[in-house]
Amino acid sequence: MSSSTRPRTFLLAFMMLCTLLGFGCPLSCEVCRGSGPTCSGKLKTCEDGKDACVVLVGESNTKGQHSVNTYKACMKFSDCYSGFVSTTMSPKDYMVSNAHCCQSDGCNRGSIPPPQNNRTENGLQCPACIAPFRETCPGTQAARCVGRETHCIYFAGNVQAGIFNAKFATRGCATESACHTKVGAEVPSASYLYFLRRADCLPAPQPPGRAE
Ligand SMILES: *[C@@H]1O[C@H](CO)[C@@H](O)[C@H](O)[C@H]1NC(C)=O
Repeated sequence: MSSSTRPRTFLLAFMMLCTLLGFGCPLSCEVCRGSGPTCSGKLKTCEDGKDACVVLVGESNTKGQHSVNTYKACMKFSDCYSGFVSTTMSPKDYMVSNAHCCQSDGCNRGSIPPPQNNRTENGLQCPACIAPFRETCPGTQAARCVGRETHCIYFAGNVQAGIFNAKFATRGCATESACHTKVGAEVPSASYLYFLRRADCLPAPQPPGRAE
């Protein structure tokens, strides 16, 4: 019996010590991934350097296939954006998400409101492309921006889904909030994890014939 209580006491003392002294205690977050507007899983200790918990609800359309997914995990606080992000590559390829980042044990438990999905075109356009397995993408098509999407993005890097990991490049419309994404960041979306090597974000050009 003592063999199981000792490490526990030790762990408790260690946790109290790091809380009291304000050391970088390891954070624990709820970890899960699932379809639907929430998921629940076990509380897990975060890896070194991951100092935030995130809960993200995403609604996406991929080649016309619609899905809603929830993702909860540990991540780097500096890579974590709390709020709404919308990206559109084509009418059949888009993603909207709502996320909440926090920094206390288990703070990503529970659920958050799903993102609004306003598909009304706002008159802006961006070069668009989706290039799986590539590092660059020509952007020869045009995406029509919707809702609050006022910026054009060019993201490239690696995308991971389970054990599958591949290069990707994509361009399209996005909300200004997508500009918070920095090169080197590990960013979750509804169903994938992105490692970004390129994260360009610029205001969408004003359409011709629409003077200020
Ligand atoms: C949806 O987006 C359009 C275009 O930007 C905007 O005019 C409209 O107010 C938005 N609707 C809502 C409910 O936010």
